[in-house]
Amino acid sequence: MSRRTKLALAAPLALLAFAAGGCRIDMHDQPKYEAYEKSSFFPNGSASRPLPAHTVARGSWHDAAEAPRLTGFGADGKLVPSIPVPVDRALLDRGQMMFNGFCAPCHDRTGNGRGMVVRRGFKQAASFHDPRLLTVADGHIFDAITRGFGQMPSYAAQIKTEDRWAIVAYVRALQLAGHAPLADLPAEDRQRALAAGAVAPAAEPPIGNYDKTFSGSPIGGGDPAGRSPNEEPIAHGSSGAANEHGDGGH
Ligand code: HEC
Repeated sequence: MSRRTKLALAAPLALLAFAAGGCRIDMHDQPKYEAYEKSSFFPNGSASRPLPAHTVARGSWHDAAEAPRLTGFGADGKLVPSIPVPVDRALLDRGQMMFNGFCAPCHDRTGNGRGMVVRRGFKQAASFHDPRLLTVADGHIFDAITRGFGQMPSYAAQIKTEDRWAIVAYVRALQLAGHAPLADLPAEDRQRALAAGAVAPAAEPPIGNYDKTFSGSPIGGGDPAGRSPNEEPIAHGSSGAANEHGDGGH
């Protein structure tokens, strides 16, 4: 290519580049009004129109009587103490599936708060075996799913209200499993637990003391309950302990 042809090609190319640059409209600034953007068109100076009186956002209307089931809060504004829908095997199975899909990545399938996302650096998720969480109202767990909690995002958009209660029921089942005394198991399961290495009644630790089974060290911090692996678990000992937090009425 001669020097001349090179020049002849370069000039229009440069012009094209210049022209294209000049015409650029950023995609983030499109020629449309965004919510509550300024506008000289309406007297109040806002592009968005004021809502007519008594407007209700789609999906947000419900009878006061339905509030507990839909929001996790009772008419008195307090968290509902126990799951306001019938708890049966089908609900638990559903809860297990949803929990393993949505919660286990952070909270671990056993609920110890050391799921894979946490082990890869996300903030330490709560352990459901934390003494405080054994006694919170069922509505609190529902509300954490609905609105998120601290670093945990809201799952209201992904998980329907019925499924949220199913998950709450399953979290309660995990807690019960994690702290049940060996003596509370049906004979057959007790045999299996003993065969699998559970310690016999005298020095009996709860079968599912999940904190002891974790061998790696979490990147995101220690056990939020601050328990050392050898420390006595909370609900251990008295035979009625499992019932205190386990079937509190549901
Ligand atoms: C992306 C990770 C992540 C997922 C997924 C997640 N959580 Fe969490 N969760 C957290 C973290 C982190 C905390 C601790 C929040 C904090 O202290 O900032 C937490 C805290 C909680 C708490 C404790 C609230 C308290 O009083 O301390 C509950 C209950 C809870 N999560 C339930 C759930 C349930 C049920 C699901 C599934 C629907 C779920 N979480 C999914 C990360 C997650």
